Amino acid sequence: MKIQIFDDHTDLAFDVADMLCRQIARKPDSVICFAAGTTPLSAYNIFTTLVETDAVDCRHITLIGLDEWVGIPPENTGSCAWFLRRTLIKPLNLSADRFRLFDGMSVDLDSECALMDEYVSGCGGIDLMVVGIGMNGHIGFNEPGGSPVLRSHVTPLNDVTSTVGQKYFTEKTELTKGITLGLGHLQDAANVILMASGENKARIMRETLEGEISIDVPASIVRKHRNSHVLMDQAAASLLSRRD
Ligand code: GLP
Repeated sequence: MKIQIFDDHTDLAFDVADMLCRQIARKPDSVICFAAGTTPLSAYNIFTTLVETDAVDCRHITLIGLDEWVGIPPENTGSCAWFLRRTLIKPLNLSADRFRLFDGMSVDLDSECALMDEYVSGCGGIDLMVVGIGMNGHIGFNEPGGSPVLRSHVTPLNDVTSTVGQKYFTEKTELTKGITLGLGHLQDAANVILMASGENKARIMRETLEGEISIDVPASIVRKHRNSHVLMDQAAASLLSRRD
């Protein structure tokens, strides 16, 4: 695991955008899993701008959406699908055969999970996962106390996730379940970037990086990954005992 601390959120975002460009230059048909959320938004915007200005060829990449709120349609501006379509799929002009997102409205969520797992295997696995961290240490919707080996699955959301998740929605929304890639996918991915930004992530970043590696803090599993990269701004790193 490599840890990098940046002066601020913008520096962090530029670095992640640059890493994405380098990944695609190295492997034009990269399979990249993207999280939605507040943390990666600037990085994605910088990335899509760089793609345009530097003519990065994204025609052969495959995009995979990390997770989705169950029961929330893709037209809802709080859905992960809406976020990924607006910030990445549309600006990158990805055709329908170049991405897969979970359908949180599916009447058969088990099949939805199986289809995602088949899609990931059919692509030959994930080259890079770009993930954020929840206030409770979750990655995607891999909540504390889940399983470190699961692949796609549906999970009840804990209270922290349902409460914090309201920030994505324009009106109060019932959030009870999530559908998500699993930590099994994360462990198998060739590379992982975990981003954390802001003072409100400082406590969980200390637990993630300095506490025990445990499913009680799902993000701590990145410490076991052979090629993981943790990028934080100063605020998110502010409670670490060592910051040099
Ligand atoms: C959400 C999502 C995650 C996201 C995390 C952090 O609930 N399920 O995929 O990475 O929480 O989100 P944010 O970046 O908005 O803090």
